Amino acid sequence: MSLRAKDLGTPKSDGAALVGLTIDGHRVQVPEGTSVMRAAAEAGIMIPRLCATDSLSAFGSCRLCLVEIAGRKGTPSSCTTPVAEGMTVCTNTPRLQALRRGVMELYISDHPLDCLTCAANGECELQDMAGVVGLREVRYGFDGANHRAEAKDLSNPYFQYDPAKCIVCSRCVRACSEIQGSFALTIGGRGFGSRVRPGPGGDFMGSECVSCGACVQACPTATLMEKSVVRMGLPEHVIETTCAYCGVGCSLRAEMQGDTVVRMVPSKHGGANEGHSCVKGRFAWGYASHKDRHLKPMIRERITDPWRPVEWDEAIAHAARRFREVQARHGARSIGGITSSRCTNEEVYAVQKMIRAAFGNNNVDTCARVCHSPTGYGLKQTYGTSAGTQDFRSVDKADVIVVMGANPTAGHPVFASRLKRRVRKGARLVVIDPRGIDLVKAPHVAADHHLQLRPGTNVAMVNALAHVVVTENRVKTDFVRERCDWENFSQWAAFVAEPRHSPEALEPVTGVPAEKVRAAARLYATGGNAAIYYGLGVTEHSQGSTTVMGIANLAMATGNVGRDGVGVNPLRGQNNVQGSCDMGSFPHEFSGYREVKDDSVRALFEVVWGRELDAEPGLRIPNMFDQSLKGGFKGLFVHGEDIAQSDPNTNHVTAALEALDFLVVQDLFLNETSAYAHVFLPGTSFLEKDGTFTNAERRINRVRPAMAPRQGMHEWQIVSAIANAMGYPMHWDSSADIMAEIARVTPTFKGVSFERLDRAGSLQWPCNDDAPDGTPIMHVDGFVRGKGHFVLTEFVPTQEQTSRFFPLILTTGRVLSQYNVGAQTRRTDNVAWHPEDVLEIHPFDAEMRGIRPGDMVSLASRTGATSLRADITERVPQGVVYTTFHHPVTGANVVTTDNSDWATNCPEYKVTAVQVALANRIATLVAE
Ligand code: SF4
Ligand code: SF4
Ligand code: SF4
Ligand code: FES
Repeated sequence: MSLRAKDLGTPKSDGAALVGLTIDGHRVQVPEGTSVMRAAAEAGIMIPRLCATDSLSAFGSCRLCLVEIAGRKGTPSSCTTPVAEGMTVCTNTPRLQALRRGVMELYISDHPLDCLTCAANGECELQDMAGVVGLREVRYGFDGANHRAEAKDLSNPYFQYDPAKCIVCSRCVRACSEIQGSFALTIGGRGFGSRVRPGPGGDFMGSECVSCGACVQACPTATLMEKSVVRMGLPEHVIETTCAYCGVGCSLRAEMQGDTVVRMVPSKHGGANEGHSCVKGRFAWGYASHKDRHLKPMIRERITDPWRPVEWDEAIAHAARRFREVQARHGARSIGGITSSRCTNEEVYAVQKMIRAAFGNNNVDTCARVCHSPTGYGLKQTYGTSAGTQDFRSVDKADVIVVMGANPTAGHPVFASRLKRRVRKGARLVVIDPRGIDLVKAPHVAADHHLQLRPGTNVAMVNALAHVVVTENRVKTDFVRERCDWENFSQWAAFVAEPRHSPEALEPVTGVPAEKVRAAARLYATGGNAAIYYGLGVTEHSQGSTTVMGIANLAMATGNVGRDGVGVNPLRGQNNVQGSCDMGSFPHEFSGYREVKDDSVRALFEVVWGRELDAEPGLRIPNMFDQSLKGGFKGLFVHGEDIAQSDPNTNHVTAALEALDFLVVQDLFLNETSAYAHVFLPGTSFLEKDGTFTNAERRINRVRPAMAPRQGMHEWQIVSAIANAMGYPMHWDSSADIMAEIARVTPTFKGVSFERLDRAGSLQWPCNDDAPDGTPIMHVDGFVRGKGHFVLTEFVPTQEQTSRFFPLILTTGRVLSQYNVGAQTRRTDNVAWHPEDVLEIHPFDAEMRGIRPGDMVSLASRTGATSLRADITERVPQGVVYTTFHHPVTGANVVTTDNSDWATNCPEYKVTAVQVALANRIATLVAE
């Protein structure tokens, strides 16, 4: 039995008018532009087909879907024929049956008929269609002799290509170009010699393929097939859930045998991904059953002692007792916790509640501190809500797309595919980034402008763009007068109009030719619907919040907020970074971004939680570290985050962890942080979790358990048990109960429940009485804060300056195949693409240092040093080097500094002055 979702043959038409026709005697009404094939399918009539599928535009190559249309000659293919008013169609006449059998006979004669031992047996469309057309004999033989001898391509770790089974329907080629946008495949040769060719290396791993799996999903036969299915056989049931990697939040179908995952397939009905996924979501789930996972709690007295496995009761009682002892000795505010953006909303809510209600203080922070806290701050100041303004679909309506400080093809791949599709259809593209990211020049996509600014000059760039908008009279005055505070706008306009903010005056600062900046600003202001997408290249700076506000100013001044195709769109890093912020993970805010200082808000929580709450905002993560080193902060609960690898200035972080009296780490694996822990509590993978994640579009998606928690308890149950053992009664029967409590105390979640999510698929907050079906686009009729607020964005250069000893600027980022600190992806076959972190360095800088490709080099900053391999490339400009932080062996954060955003303390990961030298020469150079 195939578990594949229903396929209507061709994509849905978005035509406005309805067209009426008759198919096999049935009256049918469909939107204009619909194919005859889809119209028939919607009426329950399935026309045989092979080359058509509803995720791809019709191609018309297999000739199986022929129909007869009254008044028309011949037998047109129904997949490529659009409906017309009054059309009369027959789909199954004796003539059509004979033609289809003839076509099928040819296919089968060139196909190895090993159906009983074939991995696709049971879900092969060729097999199905042979049955549907009633094929009973094949006059040309059955042995598929033309391709049998050809070798399989097994180069990709996750899927295989068996040319003997290929029917050359081109679905894979079209999936790669239309859906993924990689254009890695072509059909080469002619007739029987036709082959799918991954170019130019000859096999998939040697090609441009990014292993998204879209071609595998599109293939109707066993030609392209997941190796897991070849090994295990077909799945027998499906669990709908959500990817646990990035902030795109793709909906996935976990296809299972019992409680074993056979394969992961993106859901067609996923609001964020609409049937697509990337290599991580589709293939990199094997870490959940990796042998490194610890399934028993462990405790130890000193961090030098060996771990001692214990039962849950002992671990929980021990953690609760030690936290209380620390508080008894050092005060109620001497302990705290860090929530995780990898965990569900319900788990995060439980952890922050434990800290506020059981610990009795507000010392709770989240890993969003080190990524998008400036987004929360900046968008709240300007628009009134700490979240992006659009849904992903909105990009389909954008005429101009600005990507600033983000690398979507690596960090947010499924959204990148959508964005590239829009650019291929004619949208103009501006990239603002120090690196030549893929979007600057990808197959059939090229940025109109690449503003290759110096790291650390974002605010200067945003001011220069605003200067052009204001001084060239390109402000949308009507919008600003109606929607924004005019006086406040006037001050901002006068500020950015100052000559010191002109692109010419700032050219020496940003390094970008003034004319390029002017052209990009004109395009943004006058090119139609203009949308800005940004990432950590904007936020992880000493002026991250200022840049976010500068971007928000620009969008308001040009009227690019509050409708489809425009907006300010932070591309969130982790799967639930939006959710962890929404759930009250910041030390000064309860869920829904309401201040702990506000008596009326606190009173609400005191009633629901049944205890008095601290009115004083707690410590942020960097303050926890500082206080630990000063002796005032002694106990920490770290929930699913490896701060010793992910946070900046590793030496400072580890010294702070070592200075704690008591550290509890809850995670899947022992990691760099747990090296300093006294209690290790095993966590659950996303395949075991029951709850919700909230993606970058504020979309709340269900995460459903494909198996029971392998270590015996849900994470919210563990946290509740610790709270109870500390004397604060905390109880829920299920995670649905937790969501009910969240909805009760959080106005933007008032209409959210598991039951509603199961019915709707997903909901975008705010979801309440004013917006019962959720809010795909924010600020439509007015800004949440009332009038849009322009903020003056003075450029203040970072303190992190280059010098003779540290003449290069290091900036950091991610690659497609790995994820953050790599704890999950390093434990999958994704290591085939990125086995180690490398240092990108410009050829000139490399030559000056005698560095050749692949040399081991030392990378040193004022805070520390590490070594890694050199990748000599013009992707980085002269004077800038780049690396990732996926591998603990490199520990790239050893070199990053304590500098941080002035408003939120988000670390300045993107600017570190460094020196690079061949591994054994660094000490000499620094000493000189
Ligand atoms: S896996 Fe994705 S990128 Fe690779 S060939 Fe298939 S569709 Fe193209
Ligand atoms: S590999 Fe599959 S999808 Fe591609 S042409 Fe062959 S049969 Fe069609
Ligand atoms: S990593 Fe991101 S883009 Fe890839 S499948 Fe998961 S949510 Fe989608
Ligand atoms: S399905 Fe229409 S021609 Fe192949």
